[in-house]
Amino acid sequence: MVDAELNTIFCGDCLDILKDLPQNSVDLVVTSPPYFQQREYGGTGIGNEKTVEEYIENLMRVFRECVRITKKTGSIVFNLGDKYIDGNLLLVPYRFAIEVQKEKQVKLINELTWVKINPSPKQDPKKLVSSKEPFFIYTKSSDYYFNKDAFLEYKDKYLNGSKKAAGNDIGKKYFELIEKSNLSPADKVQAGKELLEVIREAKEGKIESFRMKIRGMHALPYGGQAGGRLTQIENKGFTIIKIHGNSMRKDIIESTVETIKGNVHPAVYPEFVVQELIKLLTKENDIVLDPFLGSGTTAVVAKRLKRNYIGIEIHPEYIEYAKQRLAEMPSYTLELFI
Ligand SMILES: C[S@@+](CC[C@H](N)C(=O)[O-])C[C@H]1O[C@@H](n2cnc3c(N)ncnc32)[C@H](O)[C@@H]1O
Repeated sequence: MVDAELNTIFCGDCLDILKDLPQNSVDLVVTSPPYFQQREYGGTGIGNEKTVEEYIENLMRVFRECVRITKKTGSIVFNLGDKYIDGNLLLVPYRFAIEVQKEKQVKLINELTWVKINPSPKQDPKKLVSSKEPFFIYTKSSDYYFNKDAFLEYKDKYLNGSKKAAGNDIGKKYFELIEKSNLSPADKVQAGKELLEVIREAKEGKIESFRMKIRGMHALPYGGQAGGRLTQIENKGFTIIKIHGNSMRKDIIESTVETIKGNVHPAVYPEFVVQELIKLLTKENDIVLDPFLGSGTTAVVAKRLKRNYIGIEIHPEYIEYAKQRLAEMPSYTLELFI
């Protein structure tokens, strides 16, 4: 990638512009293509096809170019929305994901679900309110950059603050219960050993908390993993359930649907979700590209996080708005957003 192409917004059809970019040159492609038949951006561009099959094929053309320009250590994230036709949900995102699978060029490492805290209040009395969208995370090799600790890292900060409250008493009541229980002396020794180990993990912040169930003292658990908790209670006389809480990085992200005052664009995706993806999948000075830049969200977040951006957008008026956002953007990162 030549320097002149960095921190630039290109105006035009992304398929043409992507073809001119060198292969293996971008660290992250993150984008939200126009949804099928939303007809929000006039008659031009992807999304206006007559059939969902044509729409997926057009998306695939862009996707293949995104794969070509991405580095071996990089990743490609596509966020897609669904569509009802005649009351039938088309499962558009999954049709796309299955097409990608067929070509075997990339690996789908996660489907991150964006849970909308304030979904559109448009309600059909005979349907539940749609309140989630997938972000498919693809990689080109198994040697991809992945900074798991940086994803939703603010949660750890708040978690660590509250963990002090557990203090040195954590687990004390379980030692007393083990003593009072009718476990055999050998089982009591083993229970004490495992309890000490899990207390250490909680104090070191590896887990948020834990619960212990002892035969004859607690209600029997149901479910659990293969080998099951019930079996452990039967065989050892106890089971310990580790609670990973916020420190576990799950494939779900909650955020509001954003409306920006004065925005000319009808379908902006949340800065918060893009921020967490950029932190997860890139480092400072890396290159982040969005082939459907719209109002410039990806560029704004990339710049704020000290990454280089490249944007492509077919409608010049959105580019003007994106440039205005870039010029006026605040420098802080978003933290506790929910
Ligand atoms: C869902 S919007 C992206 C919104 C963006 N994520 C944001 O936060 O503002 C999709 C954008 O793709 C643009 N678009 C549609 N077809 C295009 C094409 N072939 N090449 C480049 N941009 C295109 C549309 O004008 C629209 O702004």
